[in-house]
Amino acid sequence: MRIFKTLHWKLCILSVLLALTISVWRVDAAFIRGPTNYLVGVGISDVTGPAADVNMMGYTMLSQKVKGIHLRLRSRAYIVVDQNTGKRNVFASVDICMASTPVRRLTLTKLSEKFGDMYNDLNVAISGTHTHAGPAGFLQYTSFQILSSGYVKENTETIASGIFDSIVRAHESLQPGNIYVASGDLADANTNRSPYAYDNNPQVEKDQYKTNTDTEMVLLKFTTTDGKVLGSVNWFPVHCTSMYNNNTYISGDNKGYAGYLMEKTFNGPDTLPGTGSVHAFAQSNMGDVSPNTLGAFCEDTGEPCEYKTSTCNGKNELCQGRGPGWTVSDFESTRIIGERQAKKAMELLDNAVTPVTGSVDYRHQFINMPEYSFELNGNNVTLCKAAMGYSFAAGTTDGPGAFDFKQGDNSTGNAFWNFVRGAIKKPSAELVKCQEPKPILLATGETTFPYAWGPAITDVQVLKIGNFVILAVPGEFTTMAGRRLRKAAKETLVKNGVIGDDGIVVLAGPANEYTHYVTTFEEYTIQRYEGASTIYGPNTLDAYINIYNDLSKSFADGITPNPGDPPPDLTGKAITLLAAVIVDVPPIGKKFGDILQNVDANSTFTPGQQVSIQFVTGNPRNNHFRDDSFMYVQKLDESNGQWVNVRTDGDWSTRYSWLDNSKASVTWEIEPETVAGKYKIVYQGSNKLLTGKIEKHSGESLEFFVEKS
Ligand SMILES: *[C@@H]1O[C@H](CO)[C@@H](O)[C@H](O)[C@H]1NC(C)=O
Ligand SMILES: *[C@@H]1O[C@H](CO)[C@@H](O)[C@H](O)[C@H]1NC(C)=O
Ligand SMILES: *[C@@H]1O[C@H](CO)[C@@H](O)[C@H](O)[C@H]1NC(C)=O
Ligand SMILES: *[C@@H]1O[C@H](CO)[C@@H](O)[C@H](O)[C@H]1NC(C)=O
Repeated sequence: MRIFKTLHWKLCILSVLLALTISVWRVDAAFIRGPTNYLVGVGISDVTGPAADVNMMGYTMLSQKVKGIHLRLRSRAYIVVDQNTGKRNVFASVDICMASTPVRRLTLTKLSEKFGDMYNDLNVAISGTHTHAGPAGFLQYTSFQILSSGYVKENTETIASGIFDSIVRAHESLQPGNIYVASGDLADANTNRSPYAYDNNPQVEKDQYKTNTDTEMVLLKFTTTDGKVLGSVNWFPVHCTSMYNNNTYISGDNKGYAGYLMEKTFNGPDTLPGTGSVHAFAQSNMGDVSPNTLGAFCEDTGEPCEYKTSTCNGKNELCQGRGPGWTVSDFESTRIIGERQAKKAMELLDNAVTPVTGSVDYRHQFINMPEYSFELNGNNVTLCKAAMGYSFAAGTTDGPGAFDFKQGDNSTGNAFWNFVRGAIKKPSAELVKCQEPKPILLATGETTFPYAWGPAITDVQVLKIGNFVILAVPGEFTTMAGRRLRKAAKETLVKNGVIGDDGIVVLAGPANEYTHYVTTFEEYTIQRYEGASTIYGPNTLDAYINIYNDLSKSFADGITPNPGDPPPDLTGKAITLLAAVIVDVPPIGKKFGDILQNVDANSTFTPGQQVSIQFVTGNPRNNHFRDDSFMYVQKLDESNGQWVNVRTDGDWSTRYSWLDNSKASVTWEIEPETVAGKYKIVYQGSNKLLTGKIEKHSGESLEFFVEKS
């Protein structure tokens, strides 16, 4: 029943979106052919890594391991070239929890091999959408690797290859074009999950804003000179934590679905995901911003959680945020929060008529944060070595902490954690003083076994596209922290004549590297999860404001700031405890590619029903089938007898499930817009032999019919 209701609702939305699309085309056809001084390019590719065995990145849940694919993860890239100066900027929004130094380095290395120094540290920004439903292991510091059994090279390489491909495609599509900007309010897609900390900000400051989260979505639309839409990118703050911390399917979460839905709407229901016009839903200042818009409740009693601590009877494990689809599933909440963002973005795209004009420029630096000193209210202040407070271990209402970080606990069952557990240093007196009032749980900045536990050196970056400025930040800024940074940077940019009063400044991140959270000083003193995770101490935000002000000023001075020393490369000595796939063995009497559960011969399905098959295959880690798929739904084209791919494992309606013991299943929930006709499901996989050789295999289901219900 529920399925039918959902599908009808989906159909409804789809037609609204289609109508919007049509009106977009009408507007564009009549559009002014303004003089352009930009070349613009957009590109999309696949960054889906291992679909088995690896922990998910984000929730710090040791038990949350990947076991299949719901939505494929994408990288969406946008290039703008200033034709007057030849200067160019790249912004890539990637369905990963955060960007990282290994991913960034590998991507830039690939770019330099192909393009020389055209794309480099200065002009390429890589920003994560913060999905908590993607495989981990792509960060280089110890504390991030505890959950992934070390460094996962195969994932890092897949992510970097996908980002690289998206940038290459954007480069290859460069053409004279225009960029337009629009912004508007989206009220029902986010909520503040730490209002107790937010409320500690000064009343006069809070009074300037109507809500305790930013509800503005800002969108850039890229078109050809005659108005054809190439793609769009928007920034809106909301955690990609609609999927719960017990989910095992790879997913781009609410922003991944929003991008998928907008692209499907534009490109047509039977186009394959990852093709056609490109629409990114990029992340912004979402540090304290949850998609669980109904609030946080105790799972046992159904009562709201305790306000200050988000606990139930003193315990955090039972306090869970509820998304709008919580009575159905986390998939449903993901769909609703994604759809709300997609609808708003379609509307903004339709209304984006204000051109972006002016020169393209960029600034980037590496900053050693613990050594950074600056003047604050007349005092010379230096930041602290990194440390995490006790509330970090408690987690948040989006994913209550179940990962016991406490020292001396023997029972985590994680090989990497057992290996490094004894290495955690007692914080020095100096660190305790510097981080006050944070009670220190993990002195990550003072712990170096087997290598550094957290970043000291991080990227800071500003991209300027005319009067539109992107602050790419290496962490999760809370609502108010983001507002302060944007406001300060804009004032500096305007005062120095870099942009006009009508200029727009957005915050994008977690970009380039990950340094956890950044709260305001006042929020820090409350020491909820976000404050406990503000790693360089109480003055972290003020330091960033100082740094981005300096970068903003340098545009006017024409000075290239000191690039700074890059972070170390730890991937060479990185420990990997994730067991390799040794060999895949089919069940007795079966061979790879055999089908175990088929559709019935000559069967007929109607929309809302599910088609399901199971087959013998190898571990999906053997080959990620990037920019491809483990399965395709094919439709027979009666006019020529050809089978045409109409769905992949990256579609919302399909799921690929790894079932262990050399078995996988595939399901397709038939959507209402599905055209009647003859269909089949084809699948592929690869298996590893004892010799180490990897073989491909494939198969297909019986043919079946889809009729209109
Ligand atoms: C995941 O967690 C949610 C919320 O606690 C719960 O309702 C759901 O049943 C769990 N799902 C699985 C597969 O355990
Ligand atoms: C601030 O203190 C640091 C560390 O003692 C020092 O290196 C720096 O020069 C000082 N800066 C100013 C502006 O006094
Ligand atoms: C951890 O393990 C060691 C060695 O097996 C044991 O001596 C110690 O008591 C254990 N600690 C806890 C907290 O269980
Ligand atoms: C399926 O339909 C075809 C064509 O109508 C027929 O020849 C065949 O016997 C049917 N198979 C089964 C198992 O019913």
